[in-house]
Amino acid sequence: MTISIIQHQLQGIFTSNDGRKQVLYTRNLVPGIQVYGEKLIKYGGEEYREWDVRKSKLGAAIAKGISQIGIKPGSLVLYLGCASGTSASHVSDIVGMEGAVFAVDVAPRSLRDIVPVCAARKNMSPILADAHYPGQYAHRVLQCDVVFQDIAQKDQAEIFLRNCKLFLQKGGFGLLSVKAKSIDITKNPKHLFEMVKQKVEKEMVLVDHRNLEPFEQDHCLFVWKKR
Ligand SMILES: C[S@@+](CC[C@H](N)C(=O)[O-])C[C@H]1O[C@@H](n2cnc3c(N)ncnc32)[C@H](O)[C@@H]1O
Repeated sequence: MTISIIQHQLQGIFTSNDGRKQVLYTRNLVPGIQVYGEKLIKYGGEEYREWDVRKSKLGAAIAKGISQIGIKPGSLVLYLGCASGTSASHVSDIVGMEGAVFAVDVAPRSLRDIVPVCAARKNMSPILADAHYPGQYAHRVLQCDVVFQDIAQKDQAEIFLRNCKLFLQKGGFGLLSVKAKSIDITKNPKHLFEMVKQKVEKEMVLVDHRNLEPFEQDHCLFVWKKR
C-alpha cells in the first residue's frame, strides 16, 4: 500500500493515512540519519522519521490527542531529561533550523549518546547538568518559547517551576511529563497527578493534559502556559 503523509493538526508534525493506527512523523532534519532505529520514509521529495510513540512521552501525548504543545517551527526549546535524544530529536525536526533545542541531562552516559545526534543536528546543543540547579546552565540557555521536562525525580514539579521561572518567556508553554511512581510509589497516581496540578496551577495556567496509558503506565503529560 502507498503511504500518503499529511500535515497533523499540530504544526511540524505529520501523520499517515495508511489504515494503521495513528502513525506520527517528523520531517528529518538530517536525511538518511536515524537516531533510535526509527523508520525513514520518503514522500513528496522529503524524508520523514516515524515517531515511535511507545518510546516517547511527548509522542504518546500527541497520539492521545493533546490539543497544544507549543512546539512549532522556529521555537526555542529547553528540553530537560533528553536522555539519548529519542524525543528531543523529533523536537529538533519540528523546530527546524530557525529554532533550537537546549538538551539537558544529568547522566554522562546519556550525554555521550546524544553528542553525535547534536553534532549532526545543528539546532541542538547538549548540556550535562542537574536540572535542580538551573543557574548552573543559565549561561548556555536563551529565553525559551517552550520548556519540556521528562525527568524521574521526586520533586519533578518544583524542578519544572524553577526552570520555567528562569528560562520560559511570558506566554510560553511548559510541558511537564509526570511519572507518579517517582514521586511516591505507595500513592494512587491520580492523586499524585492532582497534587502536581494544584502545585503548578498556582503559577501557570493549565492548557491541557493527557494520561499516557496505554503507551506509558502511571504517567501524565501536562501542558501549561506562563502568565
Ligand atoms: C525517561 S528518561 C527521558 C527520556 C527522553 N525524554 C525521551 O523521551 O527520549 C529521563 C532522563 O532524565 C534524566 N534525569 C534524571 N534526573 C535529572 C536531573 N535532576 N537533571 C537532569 N536530568 C535528569 C535521566 O538521566 C534520564 O536520562
